[in-house]
Amino acid sequence: MNEESQNKKVVLTAAQPTGRLHLGNYLGAVKNWVEMSQDYECYFGIADMHAMTIPYVPAELRKNVYDCAAQYMACGLDPQKCSLFVQSGVYGHADLAWILGCLCPLGALERMTQYKDKARKHSDALNSGLLYYPVLMASDILIYNADLVPVGEDQKQHIELTRDLAQKFNNAFSPTFTMPEPFIPVAGARVMSLQSPDSKMSKSDPNQNGTLYITDSPDVLRKKIMSAVTDSEGGVRCSKDKPGVSNLMQIMGSLSGRSMESIEAEFEGRGYGDFKKAVADVVIAALEPVRSRYAEICADKSAVEDALRAGTERAQRRVNRTMSKVRRKVGYLDLRK
Ligand code: TYM
Repeated sequence: MNEESQNKKVVLTAAQPTGRLHLGNYLGAVKNWVEMSQDYECYFGIADMHAMTIPYVPAELRKNVYDCAAQYMACGLDPQKCSLFVQSGVYGHADLAWILGCLCPLGALERMTQYKDKARKHSDALNSGLLYYPVLMASDILIYNADLVPVGEDQKQHIELTRDLAQKFNNAFSPTFTMPEPFIPVAGARVMSLQSPDSKMSKSDPNQNGTLYITDSPDVLRKKIMSAVTDSEGGVRCSKDKPGVSNLMQIMGSLSGRSMESIEAEFEGRGYGDFKKAVADVVIAALEPVRSRYAEICADKSAVEDALRAGTERAQRRVNRTMSKVRRKVGYLDLRK
């Protein structure tokens, strides 16, 4: 954010304000954001416009944006070292999405896995925003000319579309956008539900015992982990035919920095009860400081508001630079004096 930042690579990512962050959001996203903000010029967005694609309550959306920012800060995100912004507060994201949409084949959007999943789930309230969602996400990325986009595995297809759209724009109107690279963590890229380990951990899991929230109390975390689905075979091993155990091992590994082999060796010949207890200990120890910082931050609402205001202003400055070029290149008339 100082002069030195001009030579740093630019990182952009965002997450929907879904209220409470779960361990998938933490390991697949926020934990890496904190690390990246030490070395890169980082823009982290709260994607409230994306959250409007399924039925929602406006007052809750506002509260969730604030709450999300507080949770990011509790996870260690320092607003002095990155720009934490609200997507709807930065003018330009929706404008560029329109332009990119005019370059995007309809079939490409209809093929998006996440669209197909969500369209099935919300078939009674299917709006075009849900289909258009990846174009807005492409705009979020390209408008910052981001070099790197840290995301979990589930967003990879959206980043590929973003790259296609950048290429199309650059070919049609001359080189403008940087080609963004996805940055997918080796560990924690896909944290699965504890109750149905074939689906990813998510806030909308009908069985909430499958989702570990970063602000869950130690008792709740332990209860959920102890009742996690495993298998009848026994043996703490990481393999495709043991999705439940493998998921717990991955969680333990990414929170403690340990390899799968060392976990396997430690629990050789021991039962799942012992193993789950150890996983619970690691999760509780890792999340305890987050939970206590969250309580402190919630008591000081103005610190969160100040962080969002400053971050959104910085984001707007960068977006303005891109959009003035884009508007000229696509042929918009400039009537400003
Ligand atoms: P969202 O809000 O669903 O998720 C935020 C981030 O968390 C990751 N994630 C997971 N990682 C591992 N295991 C899981 N179970 C898990 N669940 C979620 C996601 O991969 C993501 O990195 N469309 C995006 C938000 C977005 C965005 C962007 C992202 C809007 N604009 C621009 C990057 C760049 C989304 O809905 O993420």
